Amino acid sequence: MASNNTKVWLITGSSSGFGRSLTEAVLEKGDRVIATARKPEQLDDLAQQYPDTAKAIRLDVTDRQEVESAIHTAINTFGRIDVLVNNAGYGLLGSIEEASEAEARTQFETNLFGALWMIQAVLPVMREQSSGHILNISSVGGFTGYAGFGIYNGTKFALEGISEALALEVAPFNIRITIVEPGSFRTDWAGRSMVRSERVIDAYAKSSGQTRDWMDQEGGNQAGDPALAAAAMMKVVNVENPPQRLVLGADALERIRGKLRSVAQELDAWEQTTVNTAFSTQMTH
Ligand SMILES: NC(=O)c1ccc[n+]([C@@H]2O[C@H](COP(=O)([O-])OP(=O)(O)OC[C@H]3O[C@@H](n4cnc5c(N)ncnc54)[C@H](OP(=O)(O)O)[C@@H]3O)[C@@H](O)[C@H]2O)c1
Repeated sequence: MASNNTKVWLITGSSSGFGRSLTEAVLEKGDRVIATARKPEQLDDLAQQYPDTAKAIRLDVTDRQEVESAIHTAINTFGRIDVLVNNAGYGLLGSIEEASEAEARTQFETNLFGALWMIQAVLPVMREQSSGHILNISSVGGFTGYAGFGIYNGTKFALEGISEALALEVAPFNIRITIVEPGSFRTDWAGRSMVRSERVIDAYAKSSGQTRDWMDQEGGNQAGDPALAAAAMMKVVNVENPPQRLVLGADALERIRGKLRSVAQELDAWEQTTVNTAFSTQMTH
């Protein structure tokens, strides 16, 4: 039975992968969840197993009306929202030149705007409560670019920019923001959630083409365990000072450290050029 000091979570994309693992872990702990999916019948088993603490509803994050109604359902059901997890997303695989306008826009609609609409809808609730925590599931690809994932990288970099600014804006309301950056995890992401651009240009065979080959073999072989990722996410929600970024997986850590080192080296190498851009004379009055 749920006690009053358990947390209330709202998780997008609860049907598989991280969303499913996190929903299960949160329910197992005794917290309450509004579990959401485009096909909510995929969550029937959880709603039956946890009738008092789980509510399953339909939510396509690209539909703003469904976003608003998910927030209302959460408040009507459990009276508050302590943790929002913006997890719903998919990958678009193809070079920048290969991606069609529709493929690029749809990718942004889900991965970026879906999360943005959720954030905007939940903030009045969290401000009223003077508390809340938003986990935005980005990616190692939200910090470093990959050939063949440029549009996906764009959605996740944008989500990270929004998250950093948001953290500054909502800190006075006791609302915390954590960006989650997983590396390769064994979910459906590299399988049914990977959209390949329809157009393939042979000239990119050695860059994005190689990423296509890598992704063909990736499904089922990823090192990361989504259940352990879920445990890590629950940990940051329950500490007093949660990190702004939670990197998940040794592969992601190595790649992010590598980028930080190369950015620092480049800053040093170009420092004189960087600083020699101010007016040489002081303005006098
Ligand atoms: N697995 C990895 O290696 C990895 C690494 C870095 C980041 N990520 C990120 O982790 C997040 C979750 O992906 P996953 O790895 O757990 O893959 P997954 O098992 O394929 O799960 C993706 C989830 O997103 C949902 N979704 C997609 N579009 C949606 C929409 N418009 N509205 C609502 N839900 C939608 C899917 O629902 P349906 O069942 O309805 O399709 C599914 O529940 C994504 O944001 C992904 O970019 C994954």
